[in-house]
Amino acid sequence: SKVVLAYSGGLDTTVAIKWFEEQGIEVVTFTAELGQGAELDEIERRAYEAGSSKHYSLNLIDEFADVYVAPAIMANALYEGEYPISSSLSRPLIASKLVEIAEREGADAVAHGCTSKGNDQIRFDVTVRSLNPELKVIAPTRIWRWTRKQELEYAASRGLRIPESHKKYSIDSNIWGRSIEGGAVEEPWNEPPEDAFEWTSPPERAPNEPEYIEIGFDMGVPVALNGEKMKLSDLVMKLNSIAGKHGVGRIDHMESRVIGFKSREVYEAPAAITLIKAHKDLEKAILTRRELSFKEIADREWTNLVYEGLWGEPLRESLQELIKGMNKYVCGEVRLKLFKGRLSVVGRRSDYMLYDLKIAGYDEGWYPTDEEARGFINAWGLYSVMARAVRRNVQEA
Ligand code: ARG
Ligand code: SIN
Repeated sequence: SKVVLAYSGGLDTTVAIKWFEEQGIEVVTFTAELGQGAELDEIERRAYEAGSSKHYSLNLIDEFADVYVAPAIMANALYEGEYPISSSLSRPLIASKLVEIAEREGADAVAHGCTSKGNDQIRFDVTVRSLNPELKVIAPTRIWRWTRKQELEYAASRGLRIPESHKKYSIDSNIWGRSIEGGAVEEPWNEPPEDAFEWTSPPERAPNEPEYIEIGFDMGVPVALNGEKMKLSDLVMKLNSIAGKHGVGRIDHMESRVIGFKSREVYEAPAAITLIKAHKDLEKAILTRRELSFKEIADREWTNLVYEGLWGEPLRESLQELIKGMNKYVCGEVRLKLFKGRLSVVGRRSDYMLYDLKIAGYDEGWYPTDEEARGFINAWGLYSVMARAVRRNVQEA
């Protein structure tokens, strides 16, 4: 039999290639280029060394940016208010390519390196099953149930090369963020060690001068950086390096996983944190109060569905249509200041802003008269005041 394995080049999946080979199963490997900053040629070499019979590398950066990241920006997607769901967003895309390759290769199964404790297994398995129910999904780590230490021993005994950075932590990255799990970050009281981070400077060692940047949005999607038009993937990658240099985008939080338990998760996502903050600010200036309070609910539901591995759920698509519709007028520019780990919005402008200096300003223009103000306030508070009076009278009687 033949299996197509989603190969990241890390510990679990490198061990998996060899393990399949030893079971007499032919392994085709597939690595998605998602801007994770890995050397694709080097990953391919390691796949063949470990026993892959054929390797696919596909550059999916633009598809990832346009089909997965853009709606996440429109939805201000931060799981539990913190995590920009970077790993979560990539899984349905990788899974759909796994299915395509398996069909082309005539394989009877696909495989991934996720553990039985994680969210990623859910995202892969559900997506594969919804695209091709005939394909088996094999998760070798769920079968062998080794610790990371045992995996490292197996790798050493078979002469498999594992990059140093993947020995200390379990890392997953793409242009939208870098997830750091395991090792020294598992103890929630300990500050994440500096060696956990690759994309961000420690805020205290960031430049001593603040940097101002300007993000241009069109219908809720970032289209320009500092006045220069560019495609979303380029904008995100440029911003990762600019904001990362200023120590912006480090996240440390206690995450509620799909499988019940809490896990301590560390991320660095400089562009995601910056773009969502900018987008949210622009929405606040453009949408009505009612649109904003309703959109928060739609945004949260969309984010939870994606986190929970249900990209294929019809409600995700319906919510996305709604969210996209509500972004129709989210066009304009946001100016931000980056300084030693701090990110502040310092300006925004748009043709669609619901802001009028003649109304909001204290110096000139529209001022309700005393009579108008009292009339409005009387009507506004009418029933709250009445309820108090009624209940007071009943109590006294
Ligand atoms: N907990 C995060 C999520 O559920 C990150 C997962 C990171 N994945 C990994 N294979 N290291 O999306
Ligand atoms: C894993 O357990 O495979 C990675 C973490 C996760 O999926 O949440």
